[in-house]
Amino acid sequence: MNEVRQTIETYDKIAPAYCLKTRLKKYLDWEEQYIKKLLFYSDSKKPKILDVGCGDGRHCLLIDKNGGQSVGIDLSESMLNEAKRYYPDGDFKIMNMRQLGFEQNSFDGIWSSGSIYHIPKKDVGLVFKEFHRVLRKNGVLGLSYKLGGGEGIEANPKSYGGSPRYFAYYSLDEMDSLLAESGFSELHACTYPEEIFGDDIIQVWLRKIG
Ligand SMILES: C[S@@+](CC[C@H](N)C(=O)[O-])C[C@H]1O[C@@H](n2cnc3c(N)ncnc32)[C@H](O)[C@@H]1O
Repeated sequence: MNEVRQTIETYDKIAPAYCLKTRLKKYLDWEEQYIKKLLFYSDSKKPKILDVGCGDGRHCLLIDKNGGQSVGIDLSESMLNEAKRYYPDGDFKIMNMRQLGFEQNSFDGIWSSGSIYHIPKKDVGLVFKEFHRVLRKNGVLGLSYKLGGGEGIEANPKSYGGSPRYFAYYSLDEMDSLLAESGFSELHACTYPEEIFGDDIIQVWLRKIG
């Protein structure tokens, strides 16, 4: 089975358990600060934001609550079902981030939280090109990724009943080069506090160039 199919099969299985964990207030408060920063960087009054790999939809709700207009896409049907239950007024679509079904220049911003690390390294440049294509001139990107090296399907997953997912890890230099080659310039980068997600998650805000 290929990496993406395996990962989505796992999300289809673990969706309710995953969503119970991620909706804790301690995460939401930090995530809201980071989403506000993305909206702040946009030059639009009511930025239209694509949430890529939106999972349970909680970030779409935060985007809309803070003055944006979200569209959430995900490849897992079960995650999208959770999203629709959590945020019935949200705009959710089943879609693969490797092939975004939107016209060019469709969005003022893209929010990609914890989803790019499920894309095989050989394809990540293509995904960033898709992000670049659907973003308007001066559009903004908020991206989180896992710091480290290597990639692969988890060998002995301890969480979520042992269902494996694929993860790719990047060094700061590796990710900086990939994003620059794909037409993005960095605005700001930081980690989440250690007690929230550990210090191996990098959050970066970027602007489309070109
Ligand atoms: C770790 S979860 C993150 C969910 C949410 N963004 C969050 O921060 O909690 C990763 C999400 O990416 C989705 N995903 C993985 N590969 C994808 C792909 N190729 N296209 C769209 N969504 C994908 C998964 O189904 C899952 O919902």
